[in-house]
Amino acid sequence: MAKPVTVSSISGILSIILSLYITVSFSASVRNIPDYQGLYNASDDVEELTENIFNRNVYRSNRAWLVEFYNTWCGHCRKYAPTYKAVAEYFKESKDLLVIAAVDCSNEVNEPTCRYFEIMGYPSLRYFHENYIEGPQNLGLTVKKADDDISTNIKLVIDTLIAEQDGGRALMIPKLNPYNYTDVSKVFDSATPEVKFAILIIENDSFFGAQSILMFHKVPNILITYALKSNIALTNSLTVTEDLPAMIIVSRENLEVKKKFTNIVSAKDLILQFLKDEGIQVEKYISNDIDKNESILIDKDAKKTEEHDMIDKVKKMGDVVFQMDLETALRFSLRQEIGRTKIIEGDKLNALRAYLNVLVKYFPMGKKGHYFLKDLSSLVTNSDSVKGTEISALIKDSEKQEKFIWSSPKEWLGCKGSQLETRGYPCGVWTMFHYLTVNAAEQNIGKAKADPKEVLSAMHGYIKYFFGCADCSQHFQAMAAERKINEVSSYSESIMWLWAAHNVVNKRLAGDPTEDPLFPKTQFPRAEQCPECRYTNGSWNYNQVENYMKHIYSSINVRYIGSDMKVIHFNEEASNVNSNGILGPVDSNCKWLIMLSFYLGYVHASH
Ligand SMILES: Cc1cc2nc3c(=O)[nH]c(=O)nc-3n(C[C@H](O)[C@H](O)[C@H](O)COP(=O)(O)OP(=O)(O)OC[C@H]3O[C@@H](n4cnc5c(N)ncnc54)[C@H](O)[C@@H]3O)c2cc1C
Ligand SMILES: *[C@@H]1O[C@H](CO)[C@@H](O)[C@H](O)[C@H]1NC(C)=O
Ligand SMILES: *[C@@H]1O[C@H](CO)[C@@H](O)[C@H](O)[C@H]1NC(C)=O
Repeated sequence: MAKPVTVSSISGILSIILSLYITVSFSASVRNIPDYQGLYNASDDVEELTENIFNRNVYRSNRAWLVEFYNTWCGHCRKYAPTYKAVAEYFKESKDLLVIAAVDCSNEVNEPTCRYFEIMGYPSLRYFHENYIEGPQNLGLTVKKADDDISTNIKLVIDTLIAEQDGGRALMIPKLNPYNYTDVSKVFDSATPEVKFAILIIENDSFFGAQSILMFHKVPNILITYALKSNIALTNSLTVTEDLPAMIIVSRENLEVKKKFTNIVSAKDLILQFLKDEGIQVEKYISNDIDKNESILIDKDAKKTEEHDMIDKVKKMGDVVFQMDLETALRFSLRQEIGRTKIIEGDKLNALRAYLNVLVKYFPMGKKGHYFLKDLSSLVTNSDSVKGTEISALIKDSEKQEKFIWSSPKEWLGCKGSQLETRGYPCGVWTMFHYLTVNAAEQNIGKAKADPKEVLSAMHGYIKYFFGCADCSQHFQAMAAERKINEVSSYSESIMWLWAAHNVVNKRLAGDPTEDPLFPKTQFPRAEQCPECRYTNGSWNYNQVENYMKHIYSSINVRYIGSDMKVIHFNEEASNVNSNGILGPVDSNCKWLIMLSFYLGYVHASH
């Protein structure tokens, strides 16, 4: 398989290996905990909450909170983020009344919060009214969202606030109900003595009206309200039927219309101008945008270049599987997905048993890691009902007692995205299940009692019950039915079923905004990687594809860059054989073995 290596190419290859080894060991071992960067930051108006901040601020608050529970790797959350930022911007002048916030459920520190609120699909919006009290039934009010249409999303939030006010809550927020009288005579009915002018906006929906009410709610001399187009008597009496949205300013002294604007494009600018003309100061009531911290931006750019370098080098290796990605995917799956589930029983428990069963059999772990998976598996096999917290506790305890479970830092290598929010976990999930289908095939050659569907069934159950991307899960289930996952009858078919299914997803997502620009979605494998996988007429040569899959996802081709070989090969009898079959001393840093396996990897990748 490996082509002969000539002496002249060795020095070139070695220098690449060395530089990659340095880069990888730097970024992999120095930062063991991934520095999470959620989808929101200081440059927008969304408040990122972590568990502590949530508990301290949301409960018993004098404000209301709208919280988006999201997951950085979920494509729908990434697509929704700009919309949510726009929603937050809309409400930014009323942060003292309603906070637009978000919790990143992919960040480990938020695991208890996301489990507590039973968040199983992302993104989810929950509304917590003022003076909210913690309690088992008090999990917030689910707020609907409309894909990416900004004004519809804003309207859904305004509707929630109006419903709250109708129910006797959200009374710290000025009335958001429309003005329903037939003329302007009642417009000052609820006004405080300081109010000199009423501003009445007439429009098709509550968009400008509610925004202006919230934006200027601190200005004491004006009162803002809005009426809907459907209030015909009023629009007739004001003669603004056709030219909406319109804005009418009524003075308190004589209840006369002082100003009238029709076909307005910005209520804010008109109100600001009016206040200025009247000599009413607003600067102290309306905040300025927060200045951005330049030095942070520069720092991030430098780091980005370094990471892009590494991505580039990894990409040059072609289609390879890294131990680091497999372990990181599994850790994420156990902690952030399974561990976050409140109660696991019934079909969900069966799905978990099937998943752990194939992990115990086929996931590449050292001895200690294998024991750990077995313990986990017996925990769920011997109970009728398991709590996510029990799983989390078992993982934490095992990791505390035994440092030889994981060989790699919790980082992505082959699945690393060029942006923090792309690739990562979903890439790891695909990689892991492809690996499992191939290794199940390898280990069951000639075994009569084998069950060729075991890995696909386990994956099906896992994706259905635990995979947090709700939309992906639905797509996958539909595909499983359509492509008859149950009719798979051999290990080879199982490998090929998953290969084909993954390509269907790749095809659907090609050109999608969530695509990583450095990793465009193509049909796998690309012709450069496997020329023999396609006939000259362009159609697949399935035999060759199967060989390629068995080669790439085979255990003997897993790369250990950045992983500690001592953990993989930990053995009471201290064997020094690595899985590439190379004998060698295991020095304290394992540098030689890592370099050696990397070197072999390079040769394989360029075959
Ligand atoms: C079950 C499942 C369903 C999903 N459904 C959706 C969805 O509906 N909408 C959505 O936006 N995202 C979905 N995703 C996420 C999406 O498929 C990608 O995982 C994500 O966009 C990251 O893409 P990536 O570039 O890292 O490559 P990925 O598609 O994640 O692939 C990971 C690696 O697998 C290899 N590979 C690629 N294709 C194949 C193949 N056919 N056979 C074998 N190996 C292959 C490549 O080396 C690639 O780098 C789903 C993920 C999973 C696990
Ligand atoms: C915030 O994130 C956006 C992209 O999502 C980025 O362009 C911007 O520079 C970031 N700003 C800060 C202050 O980190
Ligand atoms: C392409 O060529 C292969 C082998 O020559 C053949 O089996 C296959 O049917 C061809 N496909 C098409 C679409 O012509």
